[in-house]
Amino acid sequence: MDFKIGHAITEDLETIKELNLDFLKEHNNRFEKRFRINKENEKRITRYLKECISAKNMLVARSDRGIIGCLTVTDEKHPLELCHKLAYIASIYVKPQFRNKGVGKVLLSKAIGQASDRRYEQVSLRVATKNDSAVTLYENVGFRTKFLEMECDTKKNACEFTEKLLKSFFKLFRGCPAIQLQ
Ligand SMILES: CC(C)(COP(=O)(O)OP(=O)(O)OC[C@H]1O[C@@H](n2cnc3c(N)ncnc32)[C@H](O)[C@@H]1OP(=O)(O)O)[C@@H](O)C(=O)NCCC(=O)NCCS
Repeated sequence: MDFKIGHAITEDLETIKELNLDFLKEHNNRFEKRFRINKENEKRITRYLKECISAKNMLVARSDRGIIGCLTVTDEKHPLELCHKLAYIASIYVKPQFRNKGVGKVLLSKAIGQASDRRYEQVSLRVATKNDSAVTLYENVGFRTKFLEMECDTKKNACEFTEKLLKSFFKLFRGCPAIQLQ
């Protein structure tokens, strides 16, 4: 399949916005409902994408059927200055009918090349651990897991903790005549 990688231009904005929304919806459906998609956030996405396009941080894969995939490569923001310059790749998305044909691999390789040209020493990204095809792709182009980002559900954990606490309390007082437990 023929396609070329290049920087997005202003005229691509609407198409890229659609791809980004598809990306967020797919993530919500396949992994976790994480992104709130509403009119207000659509405006935010549009503003963000405009900035990415004008900074030449948005790469697209174009075929004779239009844009078939995209990603952003930006500066990794960190409150403290890191020892090395780190770029951040986000929102890599290939339209479903064009997947597993190497588009993602070429997009990523170009993004790493661009980061290197801009004197970034390393490139990072986040991926859902269950996203097997994305993890395979990242490993294929040289990414390795260096850190684990962990999350816990505060409400679920608080309930489980209270439940455990109550159970051990009941266990402790089982048999005590003053407290009649079931
Ligand atoms: C992840 C994504 C960008 C990959 O794009 P792509 O154009 O299909 O990527 P490629 O064809 O270059 O490579 C895909 C690799 O995954 C492999 N793969 C496909 N399905 C797989 C699966 N279920 N398990 C493991 N590996 C899988 C392919 O075999 C291929 O590896 P290979 O080159 O060694 O054969 C695309 O699937 C996508 O847009 N997914 C939805 C958005 C998303 O999840 N983005 C990542 C966010 S972190």
